[in-house]
Amino acid sequence: MNTIFLNEVDSTNNYIKAHCNELPDKTAVTAKRQLAGKGRLGHSWEGSEEMLPLSILLKNPKEPENLPARVGLAVCEALESAVCGEFHAGLKWPNDIILDNHKVCGILCESARYGACLNVICGIGINISQSEDYFRQAGLPNGGSILSLTGVKIDRNELFEKVAERVIFRCAMPFRECFDEYRKRVLNIGREVRLIRNGSEKIAFAEDVSEQGFLICRDENGIFEVNSGEVSVRGKEGYI
Ligand code: BTN
Repeated sequence: MNTIFLNEVDSTNNYIKAHCNELPDKTAVTAKRQLAGKGRLGHSWEGSEEMLPLSILLKNPKEPENLPARVGLAVCEALESAVCGEFHAGLKWPNDIILDNHKVCGILCESARYGACLNVICGIGINISQSEDYFRQAGLPNGGSILSLTGVKIDRNELFEKVAERVIFRCAMPFRECFDEYRKRVLNIGREVRLIRNGSEKIAFAEDVSEQGFLICRDENGIFEVNSGEVSVRGKEGYI
């Protein structure tokens, strides 16, 4: 693994995108301050210095379509090992990391093709030490940090390396070998969900996840699969 530590950057995903031809495969980048972080579905991502941004470059990865699921699983495992396994990390489909009903980490995977090479950039933002007040004032009632939820103070650089190593490990494995572990962590399975697409909402029952990483849902018209690039999922009543 090749690691890069930056002081300030617009977005660690953008940094890798701009340099992916000269960077080796499995480069992991982090920064003290990320000024214009990007979230899923065109949202922005908060830039507090108490959040750890990191992005990992994977060149020509196998099964790129389900990398977001494997990255989610890897981050859960790395976080649990960093907080000594006392807390269970779950996933709000497809890959928001949830501790005690709060989102502690978001993941944005992007791809950039260069000739025959498919570069996938796995971007991960982990809330390390913001306070409850911080999330309240930022209008993020479902957000939480590792410190606010577990009381554990984590070393940024150690966590960066731990997460990057686990992501690289999981992403080198076939998805079928990660699938059971991924599926066990998806908290939406067996619950009623709101599927939010371009501002419109639909209620369905989340039956399962497929081996491609889709969410399998049922409503009055039957069974259908949901693709993570299109929708946000919330619980029917609460966050999950
Ligand atoms: C989400 O939940 O919406 C995904 C958030 C992903 C944020 C991370 S922070 C590091 C990387 N760089 C970015 O600009 N975004 C991702």
